[in-house]
Amino acid sequence: MDVYLAVASKRDGRVYAERAIPPASEARILDAGRLSGSARNGQPWTFTVADSPAAKEAVATSVYRPELVLTAALVVVITVLRVGRLYDFDAGRAAQNMMLTAWDDGVVSCPNGIARPGALLGPLGLSDDQRPVTVLSFGYPANARPAKRWPPESWSARARRRPFEQVVRRL
Ligand SMILES: Cc1cc2nc3c(=O)[nH]c(=O)nc-3n(C[C@H](O)[C@H](O)[C@H](O)COP(=O)(O)O)c2cc1C
Repeated sequence: MDVYLAVASKRDGRVYAERAIPPASEARILDAGRLSGSARNGQPWTFTVADSPAAKEAVATSVYRPELVLTAALVVVITVLRVGRLYDFDAGRAAQNMMLTAWDDGVVSCPNGIARPGALLGPLGLSDDQRPVTVLSFGYPANARPAKRWPPESWSARARRRPFEQVVRRL
């Protein structure tokens, strides 16, 4: 998929079909995160995939909307090392790369805010130097909205985003 089309048509999908993501697609999604750039190439992240029902349950308990995790086909917790000024920025780059790669395969996704980080550390076996940044939920959409339905310019015009002129300054 054209990258601008992927970016313009990507919306955060929260309603998932009961359909597994093929292993090859899942591997591409996770590898897209691994390949992301980071400050000084520090790669401060770990991606924990919540595969077992117990792990999924623990992650669901930690977020604001548990059902987004419980209904997802793939759940990825991004943690970074505790101390690092740019680590959240790095984690954001990895998260968006994973979500765009998923979208290229027709898989929608959503970042989930973490309300109770303490609920994650023990059950996921995370060491004390790990800080959870976000939980990504992925799945095929219950209602498909294919990217190729419209050109990127149409997606851009329809997006619930602040207007270009307000966001971009030119001096
Ligand atoms: C750091 C972060 C945390 C988020 N947490 C949640 C969340 O807890 N629940 C949720 O439904 N959406 C969450 N979102 C998704 C935002 O609501 C979404 O990106 C925004 O509304 C734009 O959605 P759209 O792309 O579908 O227009 C989060 C997004 C970010 C970047």
